[in-house]
Amino acid sequence: MKNFVRLAVAITLPFLLAMAAHAAPVAEVASPDGAVRVEIAINDEGRASYAASYRGEAVIAPSRLGFLFVDAPKLERNLTLTSRSVRSFDENWQQPWGEQRQVRNHYNEMRFTLTERTGPGRSFDVVFRVYDDGLGFRYEFPDTRRFHDVRILNELTEFNFARAGEAIWTPALGSNREEYLYHRTPLEQIGTAQTPLTARLDNGVHLSIHEAALVDYSGMNLMRIEGRGLRATLTPGPGDAAVTRTAPFHTPWRTIQISPSAGGLVESRLILNLNEPNALGDVSWFRPGKYVGIWWQMHLGTASWASGPKHGATTENALRYIDFAGRHGFRGVLIEGWNIGWDGDWFGNGEEFSFTTPYPDFDLERIAAHARARGVQLIGHHETSANAAHYEDQMEAAFTLSERLGVHIIKTGYVSDAGQARVHAPDGSVRYAWHEGQDMARHHLRVVQAAASHRIAINPHEPIKDTGLRRTWPNWVAREGARGMEYNAWGNPSNPPEHEVNLVFTRLLAGPMDFTPGIFGMDTPSPQGVATTWAKQLALYVAIYSPIQMAADLLENYEANPGPFQFIRDVPTDWEETRVLNGEIGDFVTIVRRDRNSRDWYLGAITDENARVLTAPLSFLQRGVRYRAQIYRDGPGADYRGGARSRIVIEERVVTAGDTLTLALAPGGGQAIRFHPLR
Ligand code: NOJ
Ligand code: CA
Repeated sequence: MKNFVRLAVAITLPFLLAMAAHAAPVAEVASPDGAVRVEIAINDEGRASYAASYRGEAVIAPSRLGFLFVDAPKLERNLTLTSRSVRSFDENWQQPWGEQRQVRNHYNEMRFTLTERTGPGRSFDVVFRVYDDGLGFRYEFPDTRRFHDVRILNELTEFNFARAGEAIWTPALGSNREEYLYHRTPLEQIGTAQTPLTARLDNGVHLSIHEAALVDYSGMNLMRIEGRGLRATLTPGPGDAAVTRTAPFHTPWRTIQISPSAGGLVESRLILNLNEPNALGDVSWFRPGKYVGIWWQMHLGTASWASGPKHGATTENALRYIDFAGRHGFRGVLIEGWNIGWDGDWFGNGEEFSFTTPYPDFDLERIAAHARARGVQLIGHHETSANAAHYEDQMEAAFTLSERLGVHIIKTGYVSDAGQARVHAPDGSVRYAWHEGQDMARHHLRVVQAAASHRIAINPHEPIKDTGLRRTWPNWVAREGARGMEYNAWGNPSNPPEHEVNLVFTRLLAGPMDFTPGIFGMDTPSPQGVATTWAKQLALYVAIYSPIQMAADLLENYEANPGPFQFIRDVPTDWEETRVLNGEIGDFVTIVRRDRNSRDWYLGAITDENARVLTAPLSFLQRGVRYRAQIYRDGPGADYRGGARSRIVIEERVVTAGDTLTLALAPGGGQAIRFHPLR
């Protein structure tokens, strides 16, 4: 690993201070290749702002910085620049698992101190890290007499787009946590949005706003103020403050990924780079892989989580899934509804759940032994109904049991309406909280850290947003945090054909998603059913990155369709490298990834409701090598509606790096290809 840290000098800038009276720039920093530039200015009222340009064109217009507090005057005006320092950093680091093994972390950093000229006379730092593919900045509060117990009401951080454009975004702070359909609107029509929010400006530059390293702080949403201007709005806390901290502390990084193409956003590792290095060391006990499970039948309503005649998690059923997994090379079996607590109103009352007591018709010890004997791992399931307080009381015992049984992955769940998570207050009482507030940020990290000490990986559903903490805590392997496949079982509407393309350019920029693809049974209780073709279901294994991927359908649907099922058996979940061949936000995308453990490449192309013909130059393949391309494509007349969804053609061709493939995608369709080198 190379690590150059140079130049960390603090300099005072009296001449720049003089210029501040005229709102002139007081400091500037550019990315290593000069493409991204950030300029800091202070106006005649002492208000500080930043602005950003990309390849010489403004992308973020002057945008203010600052805070509102519960018990102190706001921190936003009468500011003066009192010191500034710059440094450069360049390192290569490795992901223990991931969409790409080697990551370069190369930036120029500028730190500056702002001090109030009048009033309380408080000082704080703002640190900008500027990369060739975007920027991140955070606020740092020193421990001073003026800052000790800090109670933040909200941030005044702005993100003002410098040009017209359109954005894809989902609403924030509604009743349904983070699971919404996407809006595609002009920038002037953004509402209150979750991050990542992704925009395409009218000069073709793509930006995505999000955050990195959300630790002990509340999640940031974006609220449009006027025109093309957005302002951070923090997820509220249970009391009057969104965030309560003791100085010294810093905020998460506010991130803006910038790229000339939509695909460049997907190739960017900026959010990971802004997280701290691996704190766990060797995590080889977590092995990426695919899993099947007792799951889809509950969403279809043919089995129940609750006990009774329809109980899905019976010993017999579990053994059948384990045998299937062993036969077809799946690493894991997820079993939901195994533990007591599902009878009655589990959604409304997580207090009934025990995470150590199986239902009487589920022989946990026998099932775990059966799995171990077949080299299959059970994936634990802890639905908490967002009763985080109740879960914390049991989790040590639950992780101890899981570890003893050889369970190294646990899917947790936080189903409840938004604002109805339950957390421990400092006085021991239980209070209600938002899923993305500071209390839940703390809770999730407590779970991940406790799990790590038992060599357990965590996959939360209805989680807090992903901000790249998998770099620091590589046992935080995946999460949900958007509409997943489950909506195609019972949603009205189910996920529309554009949904997964939108995920790629927003939610998935944040990190891996346990979307659970691979459905062949397209008619479900949802009026629209699964609105994709079969070929698109296969392509999702490449287009949507996660180190754990479910083969979500009923086993009988796989047994009846060995042809397309072969792709699900073959596709890996751990990658050496990832590239985006083409893509437009909201429309389509083609991604190729190289397997970490072989010389195989995989391609996944997906489209929205429109049929498309895309070209895929194969120059990513190794020169001079012939590959067998196993192609799974939409057949004639394939369509995301009705019986045409299962029209798939499976064929083979021999190709080389010099070839270009033409990918014909049906409405709501896709294409999946495995490239296997021939000797
Ligand atoms: C919602 C999760 O997203 C889903 O996967 C799970 O089956 C249910 N909650 C029950 O825990
Ligand atoms: Ca969910």
